[in-house]
Amino acid sequence: ISKIAVLTSGGDAPGMNPCIRAVVRTAIYNGLKVVGVRQGYKGLIENDMYEMDKRSVSNILNLGGTILKTARCLPFKEDEGMVTAYQHLKEHGIDALVVIGGDGTFTGALRFSKKYPDIAVIGVPGTIDNDLCGSTYTLGFDTATNTVIEAIDKIRDTADAHDRLFFIEVMGRDSGAIALRAGISCGAEAILLPEKQTAIDDLIRNLKDGSSNKKSSSIVIVAEGDKNGGVYDVAKAVQKEVKDYDIKVTILGHLQRGGSPSSFDRILGSRLGYAAVNALIAGETQKMVGLQANHILLTSLEEALNHHEFKLEADLLEMVDILSI
Ligand code: F6P
Repeated sequence: ISKIAVLTSGGDAPGMNPCIRAVVRTAIYNGLKVVGVRQGYKGLIENDMYEMDKRSVSNILNLGGTILKTARCLPFKEDEGMVTAYQHLKEHGIDALVVIGGDGTFTGALRFSKKYPDIAVIGVPGTIDNDLCGSTYTLGFDTATNTVIEAIDKIRDTADAHDRLFFIEVMGRDSGAIALRAGISCGAEAILLPEKQTAIDDLIRNLKDGSSNKKSSSIVIVAEGDKNGGVYDVAKAVQKEVKDYDIKVTILGHLQRGGSPSSFDRILGSRLGYAAVNALIAGETQKMVGLQANHILLTSLEEALNHHEFKLEADLLEMVDILSI
């Protein structure tokens, strides 16, 4: 390979910038050219890309978001979009692609790579959702979880001062990873997860027990993918039965995606970006670089997308009710 294009796609995640920096500098160190693509696959289709040098990525380690910008690009799902993207890559003499993103990004990358195998493709797991196989952690998950914890700690202060019950919705799409970790870290009374159905009746019983056990406040975390109809429906159903508490709802929303990357995400981004370029140099394609038992390993993009194999830690799931008695 001689020229790598790098892009970020889908929802941004803290740690993408350290990863872009590592890709650019590792490539240049190895005598390769690097092109930055703006707004993910949209930039490939619209030919919005620029040559990067080692100074293009100065002073970005601490920045949230992504200097390359990102987008969710529907036209790339169509053959026409892929053809145009391929033509633009060829015009620029690009023979390899590093895509940083989540499952939507990888699905697009895999389809593109099967259609045009002459462009080598390596994926970097970049999503706050932590929902990919082949990497214990995805870029941004640690920072987002810390952001959620900081916010919930603050809510706990006011919940406690008023003897209130808060329902807090956190992101994660179909994954309860942020909800579970934040819930355990903040001592949530209950965590509603897409991976493990909680019956509303059980939740009500649990909250009534808490109030008779003299809990002065309660926090229930509801993952956005939970299947009880959303945080407002859950709060309404509980309100009917639990009279001892004044109930409030908070949706943390997009603040969870912003902020300076944690130490963990800066290191992970650097390791994954470095490994992605080295994998391309070694002739790899259609793979994802990921972290497994503190080693950087390659997984096929197909396997990375195998959601059935993605699981939350059993001991964390088990301890939720026990640690909040
Ligand atoms: O995939 C990251 C994520 O933040 C999810 O947790 C959430 O469901 C989704 O993106 C929100 O997407 P958007 O920013 O496009 O509304």
